[in-house]
Amino acid sequence: MKKRLVVSTGAGMSAESGISTFRDAGGLWENYPVMEVASADGFRRNPALIHRFYNERRAELVSVEPNAGHRGLVELEKYFDVHIITQNVDDLHERAGSSSVLHLHGELMKVRAMDNESLLYTLDKDHLETTPDTLIDGHHVRPHIVFFQEAVPNFEPAVDLVQSADIMVIIGTSLAVYPAAALLNYARRGIPVYYIDPRPASVPASVHVIAQGAGEGVATLTRELLNNI
Ligand code: OAD
Repeated sequence: MKKRLVVSTGAGMSAESGISTFRDAGGLWENYPVMEVASADGFRRNPALIHRFYNERRAELVSVEPNAGHRGLVELEKYFDVHIITQNVDDLHERAGSSSVLHLHGELMKVRAMDNESLLYTLDKDHLETTPDTLIDGHHVRPHIVFFQEAVPNFEPAVDLVQSADIMVIIGTSLAVYPAAALLNYARRGIPVYYIDPRPASVPASVHVIAQGAGEGVATLTRELLNNI
């Protein structure tokens, strides 16, 4: 039976595709006030601004492609039972071909009904823009994004996945945002944990740090894992 490899990814995973991270120099939160474009209060204050911010993110997303790191994780499915938990709202893991992707912070290409959280709509490639006046099936919609100040509904299933991991890998996250950053704490004691990031945050000494970008780092990880399979 294949070992279970659980991979937790952040913005650095998509950096080599050309999508800005949040907290690096030149990152998104340097140019946009985070509490205005990504918080529940901000959305109540100025929904038009938030719609516009995510319209821009969608326009960017459809112009980029998955990178070698995303593709490398798909390759690992040949040898491992790979499950990805991502903080990213892009769809690059899915477009690369990963078969199990859980989004912690929502999905950019989806919106949901304002009056019914469970009604999700995937936007059509030709209609990627929404405003506070947009109606789909008679519903006003909002970006399907977990704003700051909101609960993270997929955290529980993410914890279940991490607890079932034989190997855990973290890629491209500053480990600054909770609860996502706490996932590592749920790994079973003694399992191998890897962290790929060119500027890694501080992690326990037992974590194998691969201080490389996602593409190169996933290749390094693959070599190491296949040597120990
Ligand atoms: P950050 O912007 O906080 O961190 C990005 C990480 O990616 C840093 O540790 C970088 O060193 C690393 N990085 C940069 N280039 C890389 C590369 N080529 N390969 C691999 N890693 C690279 O992004 P996150 O930790 O993902 O939430 O941020 C978490 C959450 O904060 C996001 O999901 C978002 C944001 O607010 C929401 O919007 C809800």
